[in-house]
Amino acid sequence: MPEKLAIHGGPPAVPPGLTHTRWPVIDDTDRQAVLRALEHPSLTAGSPEVAALNQEWSAWQGARHCLSTNSGTAALHMAVAAVGVQAGDEVITSAFSWTSTATCILHHNAVPIFIDIDPVTISLDPALIEGAISPYTKAVIVPHLHGLSANMDPILAVCREHNLKVIEDCCQSHGATYKGRKVGTMGDVAAFSLNQNKNLSAGEGGFLTTDDDDIFDKAARLWQFGEIYRPDGSRDMNAHGMGWMYRTAGLPAALARAQLAKLDHYTEVFQTNGRYLTRELSQIPGVEPPAEPEGYEHVFYNYPIRFKPEQVGLDMDAEGFRLKVSAALNAEGVEVAPWWNIAIPDMVLFQQKDGYGKGCPWSCPYARRDVSYDNLDLPQTRQWLKEYALIRHLHAPNDLRVMEAFVRAFRKVFDQLDEVLR
Ligand SMILES: Cc1ncc(COP(=O)(O)O)c(C=O)c1O
Repeated sequence: MPEKLAIHGGPPAVPPGLTHTRWPVIDDTDRQAVLRALEHPSLTAGSPEVAALNQEWSAWQGARHCLSTNSGTAALHMAVAAVGVQAGDEVITSAFSWTSTATCILHHNAVPIFIDIDPVTISLDPALIEGAISPYTKAVIVPHLHGLSANMDPILAVCREHNLKVIEDCCQSHGATYKGRKVGTMGDVAAFSLNQNKNLSAGEGGFLTTDDDDIFDKAARLWQFGEIYRPDGSRDMNAHGMGWMYRTAGLPAALARAQLAKLDHYTEVFQTNGRYLTRELSQIPGVEPPAEPEGYEHVFYNYPIRFKPEQVGLDMDAEGFRLKVSAALNAEGVEVAPWWNIAIPDMVLFQQKDGYGKGCPWSCPYARRDVSYDNLDLPQTRQWLKEYALIRHLHAPNDLRVMEAFVRAFRKVFDQLDEVLR
């Protein structure tokens, strides 16, 4: 007799209280770091915590330059400006990502061109870049999603051939590698996020990294009111170009430093948990775990699965299947839910094509052709949107005991699919 499903009043497979849901883990090293920052007379970006964080992330990442920002979105905008994108230029990116991967292009008065995803990496499909290039294309923004690198070699090859700059959006993938190279070290410039959910968290924050002196200087002007950036913290008090206020501050920088000291350990926990789940869930028909292809090292910021009704002989719509199965899993104590459920070009902003009012940037006189986002041909993105969900809480201090309970919940639900779908 199978155990009664939690949706029907049975005991949940994951005992209440077993899963730690809070992230990041805050311990005494974090508390001491923030208190130390509070003692310094400067709480601004002039705090020594910020300079130290820049150095420590440069060293960890293997980048010549690093500038801490108040968000990953700020770092992305700085990157777009720094590679020379100008009003009306086009930038190619993926139809599925966080909105900022695309809106940072609008922030610099340029026009996003969307292409479909590669169903393995969930980042943009390298084979589609060439067809999206126009005489106005300046750059490609490559998101490394969920903790997995995009397929970089063919992306870099086509960008090199067409003289396009490569911006890596590493906001979800601190430390992920591709053929032994860390994400963020393969393109011209990279952006990272330190928001609360990220594998490296400061509550909010970000980094821009690059090896290129010129890109760094240009990016750094946006950081502080258009001023020329001086690493010693002094100010030249002159706007040399358009600038925003993208600085971070002493307290989040101190927290980020304390978290960074533990990032390698936390990454190991994500990987141990993620790889265990992949081993176990791949044995359950109807569930497809995330890929970690040979030569890629996943850091499992998210654990995305696809629900596949056809694998269990069901002729039903994938979204309906996902809804019922997710409800049963949630009741068993596994948090499972989709993240974005819409392709970026289908969002209101892109459908209405009105960023700054009066239709800009699309109607800007420098936008040299009419770009439409109506019913774009995005078969892989649309299939993905119907099938996927994220399993949450692979982070420390959750360990294999918690993952085993998650797997028990999946087995329980998939062993009783008739009941779940009834
Ligand atoms: C892929 C991606 N890009 C950009 C961002 C923006 O980062 P932030 O929230 O720090 O602005 C995020 C944030 O979740 C993200 O996941």
